[in-house]
Amino acid sequence: PLVNTREMFKKAYEGKYAIGAFNVNNMEIIQGIVDAAAEEKSGLILQVSAGARKYANPIYLRKLVEAAIEDKDIDIALHLDHGESFEICKQCIDDGFTSVMFDGSALSFEENIRITKQVVEYAHARNVTVEAELGKLAGVEDDVNVKAEDATYTDPAQAVEFVERTGVDSLAIAIGTSHGAYKFKGEPQLDFERLEKISSLLPGYPLVLHGASSVMQEYVQMCNEYGGSIPGAKGVPEEMLARAAKLGVCKINVDTDLRLAMTAAVRKFLIENPSVFDPRKYLGPARDAIKEVVQHKIKDVFGSSDSI
Ligand code: G3H
Ligand code: 13P
Ligand code: ZN
Ligand code: NA
Repeated sequence: PLVNTREMFKKAYEGKYAIGAFNVNNMEIIQGIVDAAAEEKSGLILQVSAGARKYANPIYLRKLVEAAIEDKDIDIALHLDHGESFEICKQCIDDGFTSVMFDGSALSFEENIRITKQVVEYAHARNVTVEAELGKLAGVEDDVNVKAEDATYTDPAQAVEFVERTGVDSLAIAIGTSHGAYKFKGEPQLDFERLEKISSLLPGYPLVLHGASSVMQEYVQMCNEYGGSIPGAKGVPEEMLARAAKLGVCKINVDTDLRLAMTAAVRKFLIENPSVFDPRKYLGPARDAIKEVVQHKIKDVFGSSDSI
């Protein structure tokens, strides 16, 4: 069934694993992810960004997720990713989302608290859970482009105050991850000391990692080998994600890895089969690649297999 994230996160926290939150934009992406989660008997978060809503038309995504629920016997939370205003959060709640993120990370502390509280109040009255963000990630999102020097790591004391004053259900923190395929210039590094500090100040509380793709090199190489050009792409090593999952991180966001896998599969197929023009012939392998990536994450990295 469609569920909010409350029970999922409680179990994830206690079991020291994380639930994968995967961005969806079309049918093949949803099918690949849901297939993997069903085979692994894992809880799942499907998340929709404002860009995804604009691309697909919100109703198509919602109906595809409803189809997935009917097709497979798993728990899925339908989540708004990076909601920029109270209004978009409200819209998604009214549309049947079970979870929303209000991203006030670009606002002042007080303004972030004010709107987060407003979203929490509206959401909780409708059994919807809310994620907020404190601190700024570097990197590229749809409309926001935060330069590395403008990124600020989450302050542990502020995180506690933020959670207490807003009643928000989960908190995305900045400890060195970033959105997109170019996360580190040199060696990958996350501020685990900060994560441990925040986690110890908020016992039992679910934290969220955005920008957590590992930028799997096999797919980067496949893209580059078959006509692509994404040199120097680098992500968060899997060991770091597994470690974070044991330190209170209950939700790990992945979009870039799905994009890379899908694109690699399509590139490879089209180069190897220049005379084929049936979209099912290249979207099929793309869907298989998505499934493989998600299954690997769930089973080998996040540890959420057999959680339902
Ligand atoms: O955090 C951003 C996600 O990767 C979604 O990306 O806004 O281009 O859909 P998008
Ligand atoms: P990646 O770009 O690392 O996949 O992060 C996705 C994300 O945080 C979506 O909110
Ligand atoms: Zn994000
Ligand atoms: Na966890």
